[in-house]
Amino acid sequence: METIEITKPFNGHVHFRNGQMMKDVVPYTAQHYFGGVCMGNLPGDEVIDTIEKNLAYKGAILEIAPSFKAIVPLMVTQNLLANRKTIFPAAKKLGIRVYKFLPGGLSTNGSPGLSLYDFYTPAFREFFELLIENDCVFSCHFEVEFDTNGKKIDPRYQEEQAILFLQYLLRNFPKLKIMVEHASSWQMIHFIRNLPRKYRIGVTLAIHHASITFPMVINWRGKFVDSRLYCKPIAKYPKDREAVIEAMFSGDPRFFLGTDSAPHLLEAKIRKEKPAAGIFSDPISLQKYAELFDAHGKRKYFENFASIFGPEFYGLDPSKEKITLVKEAEKNPKLIAGIPVFLGGGETAWRVKN
Ligand code: NCD
Ligand code: ZN
Repeated sequence: METIEITKPFNGHVHFRNGQMMKDVVPYTAQHYFGGVCMGNLPGDEVIDTIEKNLAYKGAILEIAPSFKAIVPLMVTQNLLANRKTIFPAAKKLGIRVYKFLPGGLSTNGSPGLSLYDFYTPAFREFFELLIENDCVFSCHFEVEFDTNGKKIDPRYQEEQAILFLQYLLRNFPKLKIMVEHASSWQMIHFIRNLPRKYRIGVTLAIHHASITFPMVINWRGKFVDSRLYCKPIAKYPKDREAVIEAMFSGDPRFFLGTDSAPHLLEAKIRKEKPAAGIFSDPISLQKYAELFDAHGKRKYFENFASIFGPEFYGLDPSKEKITLVKEAEKNPKLIAGIPVFLGGGETAWRVKN
């Protein structure tokens, strides 16, 4: 039987939610990943934008998975920006060094009233200076929803339009450590691959962006084909998918694993009015990455991508544990605790050895 043994991987981008859903999903991530960056875009007032909420949230994760190395970013909201001067020193003392920005309106529970255009405001500029002074990471969902005339940009082009804002950051804050979350367009990926190495940039790549394309999600009439595959950034075209896959196999340490596993209940995923964006992939994500690397004859790049480059970017030691995958087909679960699983009902050529 063919096997792959690698250092236990690190998930550079995952959503756990809170309450019962959190209890339901955390074990699926923790069984295959030794740690991860756990995003705090929780519903309503629960967005993790204060130290107290941050500590409580991390505590809740550790209660479910005590050995999971959870990095919990502070979410950039208007409240956090207003309190930036006091939050930074307090966060630093506690070792909180990642700040995440999810523009409002664009995806699930982002920061109301804020978009990438706000990068130009004095509050954001000062915030970027503080990030640099304190050697923190700015983790950002680079998509822009409206053009400068206030017209909505087609979701397929929202990421490439956001490259301008990344350029602005690199030009004005060249020392800023930037995490480009879930790059999904060939334009973004080529832009980053061509950047000089002096910039401190990391990029997570999601397995769904290496697997699906836009026409599998939305048809030529603009209607959903399968809203369970709807996520932000939306899946694009074969050329984009190729760019994602090539970056995974490039051996370039700027690109590493981050699943963006983002659970939503089936009702929310398939409702007619605005289905929720987000794909719950962690029950099968590692197996799918293994399948992809193996199918392309790129196994030798798998461990660095999955287990080494991510921890390195966040200043962590890689795991001391190993994990073994076996080339034996397994059915993907359809639903877990009412949450549809990525490619549920389908099959994956690799499984994790227990
Ligand atoms: C994420 C979620 O559901 O929390 N959704 C998604 O489509 N990726 C939020 C996000 O990362 O945009
Ligand atoms: Zn996400």
